[in-house]
Amino acid sequence: DPSAAPDAPAAGDDVAALADVPVGGSIDATINGEAALVSQPTAGQVVAFSAVCTHQGCMVAAAGDEFHCPCHGSIYDAATGEVITGPAINPLPEIAVAVSGDRIIAAS
Ligand code: FES
Repeated sequence: DPSAAPDAPAAGDDVAALADVPVGGSIDATINGEAALVSQPTAGQVVAFSAVCTHQGCMVAAAGDEFHCPCHGSIYDAATGEVITGPAINPLPEIAVAVSGDRIIAAS
């Protein structure tokens, strides 16, 4: 059915307005249909990560310059995805994004 929506959005899909992500902060987002987190560690520098906790798979939430998992308290650095506080050991996988004008777009 050619009118059916594709299963996955194409590369370059819109994620958020750059202005929606605080500098030094982060937001919850959806990228390519997956729960994600987007942060802007310094002005114009945008990084994104999977929101699936690497401990046991709960949804991690944006919390300023950190990401917090509600299940067992893991805390991740919003700039790098690295674990600050366990029980999680592994970082959140990064998702490629790019800035295009005043928008953040999925890069893959
Ligand atoms: Fe996130 Fe356990 S699932 S800390």
